[in-house]
Formats: sequence, C-alpha cells, structure tokens
Amino acid sequence: MTEQNQSISAQSAQTKPWQAAVLTLFPDMFPGVLGQSLAGKALQSGIWSLDVTDIREHGVGVHHKVDDPPFGGGPGMVMRPDVMAAAIDSAAQTMPADTRRIYLSPRGKQLDQALVRELSTASGVMLVCGRYEGLDQRIIDQSGLMEISIGDYVLSGGEMAAQVLIDAVVRLLPGVMGNPDAHHQDSFEDGLLEHPLYTHPREWSGVTVPDILLSGDHGRIATWRHEQAKQITRDRRDDLWQKWLLSQPSSDDGGKNSNKKPLK
Ligand code: ADE
Repeated sequence: MTEQNQSISAQSAQTKPWQAAVLTLFPDMFPGVLGQSLAGKALQSGIWSLDVTDIREHGVGVHHKVDDPPFGGGPGMVMRPDVMAAAIDSAAQTMPADTRRIYLSPRGKQLDQALVRELSTASGVMLVCGRYEGLDQRIIDQSGLMEISIGDYVLSGGEMAAQVLIDAVVRLLPGVMGNPDAHHQDSFEDGLLEHPLYTHPREWSGVTVPDILLSGDHGRIATWRHEQAKQITRDRRDDLWQKWLLSQPSSDDGGKNSNKKPLK
C-alpha cells in the first residue's frame, strides 16, 4: 500500500464522506469525469459519495412531463416547480440537515476558491442541474436554492458546472491529494495566481531553469516565487491584483501603493 493510499483509507475510516446529491435529467452523465483520476479514486475509497436523482422519475402524467412553456411567452421551456419539488424532496431524504442547496445557473454568484473551500467544510451539497431555459422562480425561492455560476458563458445545462464544482471541492477533502501542503500553493489560495513551475531537464529547447531554483536556498526561492506570483497576477488579472493589494496589512507592492488605493 502506498503512503497516499494509507492516508485515504485512514481518512475514510475516521470521518463521514462528503456527500454530493445531483438532480439531473441526464443521470448517465454521472459520475462522468468524476469517476477518473483523483476524484474517482476518492469516490471509490469513500472520501466522498455521489447520489444521482433522475428528475424525469418525478415528472407528471404518463409521459413524465418535466417542463412547460413560460407564462408571458418567450422561447423554450421552463422546468416545472411541482416536478422539481418532488425531486428535491426525494434527494433530501438521504442528505444531512446542513446540506447546501445549489442551483447551477449562469445568473448565479460566481464560483471561486473561497466558495469552494466553504462548500468543502459543509457535510454535503445538493446540486440542481437545469436544462432548457431554466427553473420556475418559485422553486428557486421556496427551496432556498443558492444560484452558482462557473463563469460568464452559457452551457446547455448545469451538469458540467456541477462536475466542475464537485471536482474543485473534492481535491480539498482530507486524504485526496498526496501532499496536503500543495493546496497552499494553488492559484487563488492566497489571492494570487500561482508562480511558474519548472522540472527536468534543466535545459530544454535552449531555455534553462532559473538559477535561483537550483540554489537550494529555500528562503530566497520562496521570495522569488512570491514576486513571480505578484507579477503574473498584476499582468493578467487586474481584478485579483486590486483585491490582493487591498488585503495587505502593509505595503507589499514595492511601495507603489502604500496607501492601498487601487492602481490606475
Ligand atoms: N448552466 C448554464 N450555464 C451555466 C454556467 N455558466 N454556470 C453554471 N451553470 C450553468
């Protein structure tokens, strides 16, 4: 047994799995990519569990209808609140009381690492995947669904967004990553994008690895990486950079922003 496998079984023996309940019209999409790699291994070893509810089973009438045209007119179909309520009630039966109820929607709060971390500390999440034009507003309000978006673009349904959310949470669960310290270096963990990484060979395609990384001086390496992370964040993501500047107790920007006012 490898060191990593040992820690996975130790963890799963000690704590209850993080529970994900997914409500979808396309149950065959799960576990999908989540059955592979880190998340797949963690699913198999019981670090997290997946319960998929087929919304169609709660549809009305002989044809198990799940949607109808929008009142007031407009394109497409809207998922019926009575059908969604039955599916949500059914899925909720096996979920802990503090389960976060989420509706994946381009209208939602944008998923970021802070929200992922918060969701990883709950006992589980219920993820409602919409199709067509979306859900009737009444079920969103009455079930207390938090709307979460994975970005400013429109997918054809919430399933891939649910998979993105689950993958991001699962890699934070204890026992999933071989080296738990790896999280601290992730992009966004300290508000900055990650510094560049290099490995063997030392010289490749005429380019050598920066000397500092071969120096063995861990203090100087950490400083260099921090400076690189700042530079990359400043160059690529002004939104994150401004936020990071404001979060600093004292000037850490070379003195350019000592009054912590946004750059520009
Ligand atoms: N469903 C459709 N588009 C989406 C998005 N961008 N994020 C989350 N769920 C979605």
